[in-house]
Amino acid sequence: MPHILSTNQFSKNDVEKILIRARELEASLAGGSLKKELEGKIIACIFFEPSTRTRLSFETAAIRLGANIISAEDALGNSSAYKGETIQDTARTISSYADAIVIRHPIEHTVEVAASVTDTPIINAGDGAHQHPSQGLLDLYTIQKEHGRLDHLQIAFVGDVLHSRTLRSLIPLLALYEGNTFHFISPKSLGISDEYKKELTEKNITFSESENMENALPSADAIYMMRVQKERFKTQEEYDAVKDAYILKPEHLVLVKKEAIIMHPLPRVNEIDVAVDTDSRASYFRQAQNGLYVRMALLLYVFNLI
Ligand code: NCD
Repeated sequence: MPHILSTNQFSKNDVEKILIRARELEASLAGGSLKKELEGKIIACIFFEPSTRTRLSFETAAIRLGANIISAEDALGNSSAYKGETIQDTARTISSYADAIVIRHPIEHTVEVAASVTDTPIINAGDGAHQHPSQGLLDLYTIQKEHGRLDHLQIAFVGDVLHSRTLRSLIPLLALYEGNTFHFISPKSLGISDEYKKELTEKNITFSESENMENALPSADAIYMMRVQKERFKTQEEYDAVKDAYILKPEHLVLVKKEAIIMHPLPRVNEIDVAVDTDSRASYFRQAQNGLYVRMALLLYVFNLI
């Protein structure tokens, strides 16, 4: 059965199937006709890094589909990792209890290491600044739902471009569709790495870089605000120097297209003024809700039920 480690693993066909299934699941949940397709299964959620939405929506998704949950939050301090157990041993052990394992870890590629020692499907719920595939897919689902299409879109990513795993997961998905262009708005020190720039260029992905948010707003179809990832900085001073770099405020909204959407993977610190929340283009809470439908679809995907 498949692991879900990175959005780079998906073909356009896979993505379309997941989006269609998520839409069906959303409709059946609303209509009270959702089938308990995962009855009898046990899903483990092991989080070595803080989370609200990702863990609770995976757990809700599993429960809605009839599965049971075993869970370790704060697993760095509360699981045997604290005693020095390797991720391989943890993964091997949990695979003998659970039918699928959702893992979040602060170190890039650790979830891949876990997946390398077991056939039990593993879902990457975020590994350092690397990947967060379920978030990328729920972002894609949101864009499709709100815009009615996934092609010929201008996407402005604003904030901590350097450390964002959600950006790294959304771009390969949008790149499966024609005519999408990405604009990275960040302070110089938080811009995309040379390595990632090279990767995008090799894949013929069109992008631009700038430090100015106001200039990027008028042409954007989606404005994707991102938290400055405090936990990835070495010192408090380095974080303090950039933490308030961009704040989207009500006065900016006149620059934003009527049909554009404002996204944020959440949690928000202060990148979006709360006064923006009542604007109909603010889609971040709808985005978080969509996570439930997409995560239900992803659980079905790892059991080959899509
Ligand atoms: C994001 C993450 O964990 O990468 N949050 C989420 O999963 N919704 C973004 C963030 O923490 O800033």
